[in-house]
Amino acid sequence: MSSPSEIPAGLADVPVAKSAISIIDGKRALLSYRGIAVEQLAKDSSFEETTWLLLKGDLPTQRQLADFHHELRQRRKVHYKLIEVIKNFPATGHPMDALQCSVSALGMFYPTRSVSDNAANWEASLRLIASLPTLVAAFARLRRGELPLDPHPDLDHAGNFYYMLFGREPSPSVRKVIDACLILHAEHGFNASTFTARVTGSSLANPYATISAAVGSLSGPLHGGANEEVLEMLSEIGTAANAKPWLDAKRAANPSFKVMGMGHRVYKVKDPRATVLQELAERVFAETSRPAKYDVALELEKQCIPIYGAKGVYPNVDFYSGVVYSSLGIETDIFTPIFAVARVAGWLAHWLEQLNGNRIYRPEQVYVGNTDVPYVSLDKRP
Ligand code: ACO
Repeated sequence: MSSPSEIPAGLADVPVAKSAISIIDGKRALLSYRGIAVEQLAKDSSFEETTWLLLKGDLPTQRQLADFHHELRQRRKVHYKLIEVIKNFPATGHPMDALQCSVSALGMFYPTRSVSDNAANWEASLRLIASLPTLVAAFARLRRGELPLDPHPDLDHAGNFYYMLFGREPSPSVRKVIDACLILHAEHGFNASTFTARVTGSSLANPYATISAAVGSLSGPLHGGANEEVLEMLSEIGTAANAKPWLDAKRAANPSFKVMGMGHRVYKVKDPRATVLQELAERVFAETSRPAKYDVALELEKQCIPIYGAKGVYPNVDFYSGVVYSSLGIETDIFTPIFAVARVAGWLAHWLEQLNGNRIYRPEQVYVGNTDVPYVSLDKRP
């Protein structure tokens, strides 16, 4: 049995399972899905193709990809009663909470009693991937006082998501940037939400309960919620010229202050996804307009490197994703739900991998509480 001091906080560097889905080299800024570099996927693939790759292990044939597109499009629309449920959510609620509830409720419309049937597991995977954009867009529109839209049958996953949010089709470059953002966020090894999915799935919980648990885990500000906090931070800084005085003041007030969107458990150099996102962002800004927040982010990164670089703290994927989304007119609190729309691919790939040779997760604890404590009856207690 380990002593408390030997337990690595946050399971850092502790291997917990074998996986063949993605690999990260945190020193060389490399990330690949099933062996293919994520930069190439972001450039040349589509979210649908990347999702197939993650779930099945290989790139699809042309026929498989066409069928997969078709199967997903058929499952985009959710039961009208589920839209009624979402209508009753408070408009002031956070969209990640709305999404978590909606995913759980989705499972009640498509009950899955057993996870031992491969065909049923594939069906649930298709439904979850196809439905998440619909659920996110429905809540986003309803709280703006707008009716949810039916999915657009002629648009791909990224284009349809944008259409369901805004009621208009994206330009080709906006569609491409959303598609690439989904690819870049689709999978990332044993991060907190994926681990949550695997732990939940290991109890043979149904796939909707598994994905809903993962959505809850992603919502935290140390994980997916960071992209929202980055934007708030950039708004607070206001101008590029204020980045240094702002950072100095924050560090003076709290020496362990953390810059949102910086640092990563695995990457000790700049996150490769941040680099790709930045390139994509600059392409979109050439078409829209370059937001002031982008210049604030660039200056903040410049100011942070001499201070935090030696600790291996550099921008992670969330440092620039929020700037891209906000330049597309997407509300700040929808950023993390977009992350979930993408990451559901990785969660499901891990869920299916976990079920193959599953054993329930049940790690050991090191007990540090009291022992032999006598029970004192209530009438003898003050
Ligand atoms: N700003 C300033 N310093 C930082 C930051 C940061 N964002 N992140 C880490 N550090 C420093 C720590 O203070 C610590 O310094 P010390 O050794 O002097 O005490 C050192 O770097 C190591 O940091 P830890 O917190 O131990 O790193 P850990 O691996 O536990 O945490 C995490 C990683 C949670 C991502 C952390 O870097 C963080 O809080 N970042 C800000 C939130 C964020 O951007 N999260 C998104 C992560 S990516 C994703 O989920 C998609």
